[in-house]
This record gives sequence, structure tokens and C-alpha cells, in this order.
Amino acid sequence: MDRKEEIKSAYKSLGKAHNFYDGMMTGTTVMGRWVLKHIWRMTKEDALEYQAGAFCGILADFSGELLEVPVGTGVLSMPVWKTLPDAKITCLDYSEKMMESARKRADEMGIGNVTFKQGDVGKLPFADESFDAVVSLNGFHAFPDKEAAYRETYRVLKPGGIFCGCFYVEGSNAHTDKRIRQFYIKSGFFTRPFETVESLTKRLKELYAESTVDNVQSIAYFQCRK
Ligand SMILES: C[S@@+](CC[C@H](N)C(=O)[O-])C[C@H]1O[C@@H](n2cnc3c(N)ncnc32)[C@H](O)[C@@H]1O
Repeated sequence: MDRKEEIKSAYKSLGKAHNFYDGMMTGTTVMGRWVLKHIWRMTKEDALEYQAGAFCGILADFSGELLEVPVGTGVLSMPVWKTLPDAKITCLDYSEKMMESARKRADEMGIGNVTFKQGDVGKLPFADESFDAVVSLNGFHAFPDKEAAYRETYRVLKPGGIFCGCFYVEGSNAHTDKRIRQFYIKSGFFTRPFETVESLTKRLKELYAESTVDNVQSIAYFQCRK
């Protein structure tokens, strides 16, 4: 099984989604599937495709220091962290409330190698070059200061370390872009400016020694080596 298939199969352990947010991220509720289809123009399989792609840089035998920012409720990451018992994982988020769900999920899933810390991605409370990998899922479209977030995630990564993840990019699906403007920006969940696939590809190529960017509809997923 390649890494993408392994990660997809880890999601099968997720079981029933806990709430509206989790259902939307995973397409495991009727409402979640409606949002995927009518906002994101995706099927559940499409969502799985970008989510697995976002983790591809983290190998099955990863055993180093890993930072996840933002962890949110951990709905996408905990099934994968469960497959990495030798890793030392730190999860950070600005919102204590979101992180409380992630903590609960980690406990329920019996994941013991994860610690949680409240903080700001724009001012990470870690020394330079502390992590072998930094994973960021669906955060960069929400972060208010994206330049600081790119700077900080790079700073805390060791040379040769992996930066991977995914987030919304504009310009790939006009319907989704319209809905994002109508609902997500107004509600404060998403913050401008947004990348396009092209601008993200250029940015990561300039910052990192190696990088790849792909997308499923309006979600780009990427993998870089410092
Ligand atoms: C859309 S959620 C994504 C969560 C999770 N990674 C996922 O894919 O389900 C965005 C998260 O970013 C967090 N966030 C927003 N601004 C932040 C900041 N400056 N520093 C850290 N986390 C932040 C929010 O609290 C929220 O949990």
C-alpha cells in the first residue's frame, strides 16, 4: 500500500463524526456531504484525496518531533497520529475550545504521544529548528497574519525537515470562490488574502529546497523539504 492509501485507511477508524464541523470535514453526515457538494463541489472521496495528499510527507515510520498547527478538533489528524506511536507530537491552536475536542478525541483513541499547547502560529512558542516536521491542515486560509505564519512554520523546522498540509486557494473553482466570499469571509472563518495554486507553488519554491503543490478543486495540498 502506498502512503496515500495507508492514510485513507487510517480514516476508516474515525467512526461517526462528533459534530457539524467534523461531519463537514469528513463528509460523514448528510449536512457535511451537502456542504462538500454545494460549497466545495467535492465528493467524500475528493475530500479524502486532498486530506491523504496533505499527509503524504509524513512517512509511516516517522519517529521524530512533529508540530501540528492548527489542530482544530483533530478530526483529520488524530487517525493519522494514531499510526505514528514513535513520534513526539505537539498540537497547537489559538482556540482552547477547538483544542478541547482534539484532546478528548486523542484520549478516546488512546493516543498517548500527543501534547497540546494554546498559542498563535504567528508567534510560535518554540525554539528555532525544533521540529522534524510541521503539518498545517486548513489553517492558512484562516490565519490573520499569513506572512508571519509562513515565517514561523519555517523557523521552527529543522534543516531537511518536512512542511506539509492543505488549505483553500482561490481561482480554482469560481462557484466555491463565490460561496467563500458570501459565507466564510463574512462569518470570519476565512481571512484574506488567499493564495492561488500558482502563487502558493511560487512561494513554496522560493522558501523551501524542494516543494510540490497539487489541488482537488479549491483545496491545495503541498509537501516541502527545508
Ligand atoms: C478551519 S480550522 C482547521 C482545523 C483543523 N486543522 C482541521 O483541518 O480540521 C482553523 C483553525 O485555525 C485556528 N487558528 C486561527 N488563527 C490561528 C492562529 N493565529 N494561531 C493558531 N491557530 C489559529 C482556529 O482556532 C481553528 O481551530
